[in-house]
Amino acid sequence: MLTKERLRAIQNDSNVCADIEGFDFNAYDAYDIEELRRFWLQYGVLRFRQAGITDAQQVEFSRHFGEFVIHPKQKQEGGHPTHPEILVISNAMKDGKPSGAMGNSEATWHTDTWFYERPPAGAILRAVTVPPSGGDTYFLSTYSAFESLPDSLKKMTDGRQIFFQNVYDKTGKLRLGKSAPEAKDFREWSGIVHPLVRTHGETGRKALYLGGTTEGAWIVGLPLDESEDLLLELWQHTTKGQEVFVQQWDEGDIMMWDNRCTMHRRDGFDPSLIRIMHRTTTAGERPV
Ligand SMILES: [Fe+2]
Repeated sequence: MLTKERLRAIQNDSNVCADIEGFDFNAYDAYDIEELRRFWLQYGVLRFRQAGITDAQQVEFSRHFGEFVIHPKQKQEGGHPTHPEILVISNAMKDGKPSGAMGNSEATWHTDTWFYERPPAGAILRAVTVPPSGGDTYFLSTYSAFESLPDSLKKMTDGRQIFFQNVYDKTGKLRLGKSAPEAKDFREWSGIVHPLVRTHGETGRKALYLGGTTEGAWIVGLPLDESEDLLLELWQHTTKGQEVFVQQWDEGDIMMWDNRCTMHRRDGFDPSLIRIMHRTTTAGERPV
């Protein structure tokens, strides 16, 4: 009798990512998905090396991890021609126009769509075409960022909420469906309020929730300068003081992250090289 190879998660040299071995994208069952889900919650980020799956397989696989979230860019340049569930991240041009989102520039540290009322729970990112170098993706644990806060700082986050404006993106462009606000103070703009320390809906662990930028973020109730100082300290602690896992992509690689307890960033790369990634995104709970 053939026995199925057992799934294994092998932790990388960081506290945020494990390599998955023994998972067959052509023949998996509900038990395998449960195992993966357990590893995903345990490690925060899972990597599948050179899985070599199709768009349809990616969509089918992602479906097991929740409802799809359609990123605003999927309604703009990041839409996929035949799979509406996929966000195309690419610097390639077609007929003189971008054929994907994000271009070739650096993406600084963030959690995905922090400016939504219900930010996604997870993302599954697959390398379709990658340059020989550049465009690496970095991950860190926001559980660890919270747990390693010095007591004095931890105390300052206690019970605090954070406001994020959701009118402009990080590059200063108006977000889809938004118009330029009249007020000078961003705190009067359209935005969303989340807890500064969120409790993961499935693991119950606490994670620091900084969103994607200090600009347009305010710790509710603090004078603006105090809020800025505290946010800078928290960002410094998180992005300079944590273990980081760096993913150097091969074609076919898949990274699957939990957006509720990790942050990521991407290096820029040579604009004459082509990098194409396909992402699916799954719905999450409102942070509490
Ligand atoms: Fe992202």
